[in-house]
Amino acid sequence: MPSITINGRPAEFEEGQSILEVALAQEQEIPHYCWHPGLSVVANCRICLAEIWAPNPRNEGKLEPMPKLMPTCQTMAQDGQVVYTDSPKAVANQRSVMELLLINHPVDCPVCDQAGECYLQDYAYRYGRASSRFEEEKIKQPKKDIGEHVLLYGDRCIMCTRCVRFTREVTGTEELMVQGRGATEEIDVFPGKGLDNELSGNVVDLCPVGALLDKDFLFAQRVWFMTKTPSIDGITASGDNISVEHNNGTVFRLKPRPNASINKWWISDEIRYGWKFIHDESRHVMPMLRSRDEWPSPKAAEAWTASMEAATKGLKSDGRLAMMVSPMLSCEDAWHLGQMALSIDPQAVIGVGPVPFNGEDKSFPGGYTVRAEKAPNARGVRRVLSALGIDVLDAVGMEKALSSNTSIDRVILTGNYPSEWVTPSFADAVGQERFLLLIDTLPNSLTSRADVFLPGATWMEKAGTFENVDGILQSFEQAIEPVDYCKSEAQIAMDLQSALSGQKPTVFNAAATRQAMASQAALDRFVSDVTLPKVPQTVESDMSIIEL
Ligand code: SF4
Ligand code: FES
Repeated sequence: MPSITINGRPAEFEEGQSILEVALAQEQEIPHYCWHPGLSVVANCRICLAEIWAPNPRNEGKLEPMPKLMPTCQTMAQDGQVVYTDSPKAVANQRSVMELLLINHPVDCPVCDQAGECYLQDYAYRYGRASSRFEEEKIKQPKKDIGEHVLLYGDRCIMCTRCVRFTREVTGTEELMVQGRGATEEIDVFPGKGLDNELSGNVVDLCPVGALLDKDFLFAQRVWFMTKTPSIDGITASGDNISVEHNNGTVFRLKPRPNASINKWWISDEIRYGWKFIHDESRHVMPMLRSRDEWPSPKAAEAWTASMEAATKGLKSDGRLAMMVSPMLSCEDAWHLGQMALSIDPQAVIGVGPVPFNGEDKSFPGGYTVRAEKAPNARGVRRVLSALGIDVLDAVGMEKALSSNTSIDRVILTGNYPSEWVTPSFADAVGQERFLLLIDTLPNSLTSRADVFLPGATWMEKAGTFENVDGILQSFEQAIEPVDYCKSEAQIAMDLQSALSGQKPTVFNAAATRQAMASQAALDRFVSDVTLPKVPQTVESDMSIIEL
């Protein structure tokens, strides 16, 4: 395999890789602003320049220096090259670039949302000059509202053009442009046309500095206070890899995690901002009985005990049980709910809840697709219930069964949708006479009808597995504790099954459930094929903590 040497460290590479890519692949830092793996290479920021020596075939292969510093993002690796980004010439260039970029920068880090994850801050520390020689007046750029989700603080822009290339190469919408020349050039939108596409929030992630800001996250939280938990999109069938960023049980934002075969480096605005229902004020976070509306919070234990007793009592009957498992739930939830239902009634009528669709899949030139299917796990729920030997109905089939099968006298419904999911015809099919146990999050037209309501946990409040639209199984971790007195549907199912059988309750564990599921031949994929998120690397502080 061909190899090059970067700052004295040998590195093998594959044909077609740039020197920067080779360095990054072996976690060797070369500073870079304008280069991004998902965009074209323009080599305009000049911070990645290196001194390169290469074998000259016309001089018996002797190593000779290239006449000037070369951009490592644009120069392809060639066997035998020797690259220096720490030579006096390369270091002098890095310092000059940093000095130039900071000439007009307001250095307003204390009030900048990007502080703590800003390349300009990091590189100023590692590659910059300690002081500025600039004594003239700084050029001031305006702050602009450039789209529904994005603000532009032009002062902080370093003109890397990542954002412009994104709208040209990935979305194909071309809203952003470079306006003006030289020291007064700026990023702008075309007159009368804002940044308005389904992927617009990605420009905020792409911006290496604090020039493009997310209105939704503006001044909401300092980034160093937040914990990042790897997760999977929980509101569409895309299976997009995301990172949930949260602090003290509150989620503040979602960011994409790169996955070349699913979402590349992007997520849609729908996924980025569609999680707000988990902190919705109208969310039901306490168990409820039809005879009692509210449970004062200090009596949560009493509320759960009384509700579970009522649920257990109501589920015991000689008639038929019907249960609908929502496609918003995880495979592990479906497994425990299915087992619980079969333990109550081996002939139970079981189906998957309604799967919302919105138009058709929409693909962008950069290869990203916004999925029309707005549920994360319809396939996974169906797969798991089928493996339990259940003849799984769809939502229409369930509605018909509820309308026509008079022997059904107990119904368990699960929701967990980000918006209203109960149609009038479905509510009619459930009727008024049957015992109804509703496990849900947001209020809907069946909430007050339910004999027992148990508050479920959204996907960020539990661990589990989703099967996406392409049949890819991906696990996600629990990001935050369940809000108030909510519980995962899997835990509720396990508790109900224990109460009904008189056995000791057990605590839900997603990995153990997957192991149990994989003991069924039809579900052995749950051990062999599930993609688990990489464990994030711990970043050690470069500053010592001093006790005052
Ligand atoms: S706004 Fe950000 S991404 Fe766009 S050119 Fe400026 S620094 Fe680069
Ligand atoms: S990263 Fe190479 S020139 Fe910008």
